[in-house]
Amino acid sequence: MEYDFDKIIERRNTGSLKWDRYPDDKAISMWVADMDFQAPPAVLETLRKCVDYGIFGYSLPTKELAEVIIQTMEQKYGWSIEPEWIVWLPGLVTGLNLACRSVGDVDDEAISFTPVYPPFLAAPVQSKRTLLTVPLMLRDGQYVFDLEKLKKTITGKTRLLILCNPHNPVGRVFSREELLALAEICLENDIVICSDEIHCELVLDEVKHVPTASLSSEIADNTITLMSPSKTYNIPGLGCGFAIISNEKIRRDYVETEKGILSTPNALGYSACLAAYRDCEDWRLAVVDYLRKNREVVYDFIKGELAPLSMQKGQATYLAWIDARKLGMSNPAGFFSKGGVILSDGKDFGAPGFLRLNFACPQEVLREALYRMKQSLERL
Ligand SMILES: Cc1ncc(COP(=O)(O)O)c(C=O)c1O
Repeated sequence: MEYDFDKIIERRNTGSLKWDRYPDDKAISMWVADMDFQAPPAVLETLRKCVDYGIFGYSLPTKELAEVIIQTMEQKYGWSIEPEWIVWLPGLVTGLNLACRSVGDVDDEAISFTPVYPPFLAAPVQSKRTLLTVPLMLRDGQYVFDLEKLKKTITGKTRLLILCNPHNPVGRVFSREELLALAEICLENDIVICSDEIHCELVLDEVKHVPTASLSSEIADNTITLMSPSKTYNIPGLGCGFAIISNEKIRRDYVETEKGILSTPNALGYSACLAAYRDCEDWRLAVVDYLRKNREVVYDFIKGELAPLSMQKGQATYLAWIDARKLGMSNPAGFFSKGGVILSDGKDFGAPGFLRLNFACPQEVLREALYRMKQSLERL
C-alpha cells in the first residue's frame, strides 16, 4: 500500500505542543519529537470504532494486547517475555521517573550518558537522587560509551543507570557487544539499568536493535525496559506505553511507587497500541524508508551548504544532532529561530552549542527549513 508522507497537514492552532508552544504563523517547528504525519490508517480506523462505540468507561488492557506485545518481542528481538512482566504506563517519561524513585533510596546516585533527552537529566533530581553524568565519546565518527570513565564515576551509592537506546539525540543503536560490556559493569556494581527503548522500531540503518534485557536472563533480572508505540506510529499524545520488568522485586517496587498516583492508559491509547503493533508493519517500513531519505537530505545539505555546522549520521530516530559550536554563539537555537526554524537547544541535553532537528515532516517542509537556515547563515 502507498502512504502519502509528502502531504502537508497544517498543525498550527490545533493545540499542538510542537507547533503552538511558540506561536508564529511562519516559523517551521522542528523541536519536539513527534511527526507531522498522520498515524497509520489501521490506527485511525480503530480509533474511529472506539468513538463510534461511544462508551468511555474505565479500561483494561485486553489479553490480545499482551499477546501481541509478547509476539512482537519474540519475533523482532528473539526475546521471550511473560505477560505479568508488563507494567502499563501513561508515558515513558513517567516510566523513567518511576525507575528513579523505585530503585535505591533518596540521595543515591543515578547515571546518564550525555548528551541526552532532557528528562534523563531531570528525572533523578526530581526523584531526590544525585545525577552523575558520563559523556558519550566520539570514536571513528560514532558516539560510543566511555566505559573507563563510567567505572571511575560509579561510587558505592550508584544504584541506577538510565540508558537511552536507540539514543536520543545522537541516534546510535548500541551493538550487542557494547550493551553486554555495559550491562556487565552494572551487574558487578549492583546497578539496575533502566533501558528506554522508545525509538527501537525507528532503525534506519542495516543494524539491529538489541533490547538490553534480551542479552541474558541475569541481565534481564537487572533491567527495567521501557517501550511504547508512540514514537514509531506517531501516537505520543494518546499516552500509552509500558515497562517490561522480569525481576519480581524490582517490578513490585516499581508498581508500589506508582500506586494511587498514576492512572492507567485509556481505551483509545490501548486500542491504538494494539492496532499499531498488530496491523501496521507495512506502514512502519514505509515511514522508516521516508525518514531514511529525509536523514540523507539533512546530512547532505548540512555537509554541502551549511558549513560551519556538522553532524554525524544517526543510525535511528528522526532526530539529527547538529554541532553548531563553530558558530561561536551562546544561543544558536535562538539565532535560527529568528530565521524561522525552531530547533531544540543542545544546552537542554547537556551539550551547549549543539542543536537537535526533527526531520519527521514532509520533505518539502524539510527542504524549506534547511534553506532558511542557510539564509540565516548568509546574513551573518
Ligand atoms: C528517549 C525518550 N523517552 C521518552 C520520550 C517521551 O515519552 P512519553 O511521551 O511516552 O513520555 C521521548 C520523547 O521524545 C524520548 O525520546
